[in-house]
Amino acid sequence: MKFAGLADKEEDAVRVEITILVENTTPALDLVGEYGFSVLVRVDGHPILFDTGSRDALIKNAPVLGVDLGAVEDVVISHGHSDHTGGLRLLVENSTERRFYAHPHAFSHRGVVLPKGKTRDISMPVSREEITASGGTIIATPAAREIISGVLVTGEVPRQTGFEDTGGNFIYRHGEGWETDYILDDQSLVIDHPAGLIVVSGCAHAGLINTLEHARELTGRGNIHAFIGGTHLMTAGEERMTQTIHALKEYNIDRLVVCHCTGFYPAAILYRELGGIVQKGESGFRMTI
Ligand SMILES: [Fe+2]
Ligand SMILES: [Fe+2]
Repeated sequence: MKFAGLADKEEDAVRVEITILVENTTPALDLVGEYGFSVLVRVDGHPILFDTGSRDALIKNAPVLGVDLGAVEDVVISHGHSDHTGGLRLLVENSTERRFYAHPHAFSHRGVVLPKGKTRDISMPVSREEITASGGTIIATPAAREIISGVLVTGEVPRQTGFEDTGGNFIYRHGEGWETDYILDDQSLVIDHPAGLIVVSGCAHAGLINTLEHARELTGRGNIHAFIGGTHLMTAGEERMTQTIHALKEYNIDRLVVCHCTGFYPAAILYRELGGIVQKGESGFRMTI
């Protein structure tokens, strides 16, 4: 598949505005934090909603941040976990013709096994039927696809590095039983900007470096300008942290906005090793490229 890309344009000819609508925390008194993630990405004015948080923070924060969710026609679901899809419940209550980009596995029944052995249900809280009934069109495929010129959804991310894993004890329902969930639905959004690739990730269960590598392969571009999103480094051991930092230094990435499932200590290590390019993304964070 050949993507049109925006790389050949002048740097200031493509305007990308990123607004974090939902993240675990916020420094703003008029916004709420909620365990989960949701971002509005505008590319030359075209709005794309990436994930929806876990409950109602999306609906509360969007108007405060000047985001009209009614005008959003493209919704990307990074993966089916409820901290990224919980806001779909309120979103689909407002019947609107929208396109929902997801991997088919996103609609599976799934859980996480907690340290003391209990299982928590973390499935998507709305069904395919409810999304369709609201006027939504579901585009469910493991393949990469282009939303608008130069803006891609990665589809399934190949697991190439030996040092990354999904970051938890995840399971999904398979027939009568449960199987290990490798979260194959995990996908990211890639903007082929003249300044370099901009990659937006939900949890990066596929691995941060696997995700960035796949973005480079899909677009044929080596230069990564910015990463924004969850990294799921919160459960990473020393080896994974070391290898991840080594790869990020090789990429010469300009901005790393870590959010959600990055964890305090991994974020602190990234900041120590990479310095001021590392920022924490919270509800209300904005950046324009
Ligand atoms: Fe997740
Ligand atoms: Fe998450």
